[in-house]
Amino acid sequence: MRVFVAGASGAIGTRLVPHLIESGHEVIGTARSSANIERLRALGAEPLVLDLLDPRAVGRAVREAEPDAVVHQATALADVRFSRNLDRAFEQTNRLRRRGTDALLAAAREAGVRRFVAQSFANFRYARVGGPVKREDDPLDPAPVPGMRLTAAAMTYLDEAVLAAGGVVLRYGSFYGADSDGLIEPVRKRRFPIVGSGDGVSSFVHLDDAAAATVLALEHDGPALYHVVDDEPAPVREWLPVLAAALGAKPPRRYPIRLARLFAGEGAVMMGTTARGAGNEKAKRELGWAPRHPSWRDGFAAAYARTEVAAAGTAAAAIQGSGA
Ligand SMILES: NC(=O)c1ccc[n+]([C@@H]2O[C@H](COP(=O)([O-])OP(=O)(O)OC[C@H]3O[C@@H](n4cnc5c(N)ncnc54)[C@H](OP(=O)(O)O)[C@@H]3O)[C@@H](O)[C@H]2O)c1
Repeated sequence: MRVFVAGASGAIGTRLVPHLIESGHEVIGTARSSANIERLRALGAEPLVLDLLDPRAVGRAVREAEPDAVVHQATALADVRFSRNLDRAFEQTNRLRRRGTDALLAAAREAGVRRFVAQSFANFRYARVGGPVKREDDPLDPAPVPGMRLTAAAMTYLDEAVLAAGGVVLRYGSFYGADSDGLIEPVRKRRFPIVGSGDGVSSFVHLDDAAAATVLALEHDGPALYHVVDDEPAPVREWLPVLAAALGAKPPRRYPIRLARLFAGEGAVMMGTTARGAGNEKAKRELGWAPRHPSWRDGFAAAYARTEVAAAGTAAAAIQGSGA
């Protein structure tokens, strides 16, 4: 297949391109910034600079590429500062999830492209009632917390638009497996605490497993929606100390809910205490996918061992430990 990957230079895109090529596909990969063009070429893609918020450019790019499939992996999260108002941090990503998705879907329709796969997200989305692990057909949170409402709505917009067009939506877990992972710095600096009892559940997925599932999804008829997450959704109190250890950082601090609400906001309290995780049975059954890193328990250690990230963490912990 000729596969048009929008957002090929990001965390998941750079893993996906080699997986697609190894599976025998040709890849047209887009980046927002021309600085990433050579990187895409080195990965084996035909590179293209494209702004997804320019619908005419998107239409032209897809028409000229003549792909058999379009994959939407464009977000704008690199170098974003996450504050108590996540909607602010996700503003541009939310645009890409709404207008960018519309532009790509329209372009795919006009070019007669039959396969469409898009990035969505599994964590912090589901109604915070009932069991700790949700399936794809479980109800979403009807009342997202303040500061996350626009972001939740944009994700739902993308999910619904892609499904309505007959595409496949992949609700990934939180990505890990790269030196640029968003959790590394806050965990290493002990700025990511366990809030209250730490019962909030998250699902993770190694970037290579996420890429492998995406390749399989391209072979699958839509409309369909899958959780692409590992086998072990887990509460923060369990996974966070393991991540800290894998990074060579000191154990996480503990914050009472009251204090976390004051300093980090309602979103942080929700993620730390009441969030639900996601199960992967459907993706395994229907896509024939099996994660090579079935649990973050071993996955974090494997991902960060021997990396500069872990080495830096060990040095930082030693300095803190010496009281310097
Ligand atoms: N994906 C998530 O849900 C999520 C959530 C929280 C944290 N994170 C973390 O955030 C970090 C950065 O994520 P990322 O690597 O996915 O980076 P990113 O900067 O969000 O980029 C993803 C891709 O989208 C492209 N893109 C950005 N704006 C675009 C636009 N207007 N039009 C078309 N394409 C556009 C980027 O191109 P350029 O590279 O040229 O800019 C890149 O190819 C990672 O460490 C990740 O783990 C991700």
